[in-house]
Amino acid sequence: MATPEVFKTCAAMREYCDGARAGGMSVGFVPTMGALHEGHISLMRRARGENDRLVVSIFVNPTQFGPGEDIEEYPRDLSGDLDSCLGVDADAVFAPTAREMYEPGACTFVEQSVLTEVLCGAFRPTHFKGVLTVVAKLFNVVGPCRAYFGQKDYQQCVVIRRMVRDLNVPVEVVMCPIVREPDGIAMSSRNNYLSQEERSDALCLSQALAIAKKRLKQGERRSSELVAAMRNHINNVKSATIDYVAVVHPDTLQPVSVIEDRAVAALAVRIGSTRLIDNAILGDE
Ligand code: PAJ
Repeated sequence: MATPEVFKTCAAMREYCDGARAGGMSVGFVPTMGALHEGHISLMRRARGENDRLVVSIFVNPTQFGPGEDIEEYPRDLSGDLDSCLGVDADAVFAPTAREMYEPGACTFVEQSVLTEVLCGAFRPTHFKGVLTVVAKLFNVVGPCRAYFGQKDYQQCVVIRRMVRDLNVPVEVVMCPIVREPDGIAMSSRNNYLSQEERSDALCLSQALAIAKKRLKQGERRSSELVAAMRNHINNVKSATIDYVAVVHPDTLQPVSVIEDRAVAALAVRIGSTRLIDNAILGDE
């Protein structure tokens, strides 16, 4: 395996990807903010298997963090990340500076209504504008044939898919399953913020989703009952504060009252001061 080439500028990254496509090669792309864990690595493996060239971006995007959020504390480990990229045989890593991505005076952003106003968007009003803007910019630099995102950030996948559709971006968005620790907690860079006690309290998110799945299997199709059961479980944990617990339509993200075929149970919970999200697709068995 060869060490991936690291690109710091948009121009050099674009030239590399242009060359690959001109040579008839497909380009698979995995955008990340680094601090890579098995969740990211699962996306990279999938992309590696489905494309001739694998490009990974590592960029802690300032525009998707709101005031008072954790941009300063966000873990950064470029050399560890490059080892992970080497481990999955990535061809190229794009690791620009903030100055390279956002030139002074930048004043064009990608905004989306409806889908960004619910769930996390209701609590982080500027977040998806930052995500969509940076993802659009990264797509324009890399020009991927396929881009890989995790179901862990379900709403993010849905809003990116909608942007791609609405703006005719020539890329296929692939959603990959959530990778969990053996005890069920969804892998996340933010799990590192948790104390030992909080780490065990944080299990209440995946446990709540398991309760919803079980109740549905037993025949309970009313969302209000499933939401109540999930809230009840989480509220028993002292360090937990619920931002939202919802059962929504998989595409529109609007609340559903009775689950007909498929729905998504989504939740955001603060454990101490760490905000965690998780979700599960209901009715897919
Ligand atoms: P980041 O949080 O680094 O995540 C990068 C990708 O990894 C996302 O698509 C996310 O859904 C996926 N991922 C994270 N944890 C996962 C897990 N446990 N299982 C499966 N996939 C997982 O999401 C972002 O960065 C940024 O918003 C970004 C899209 C890079 C734009 O800045």
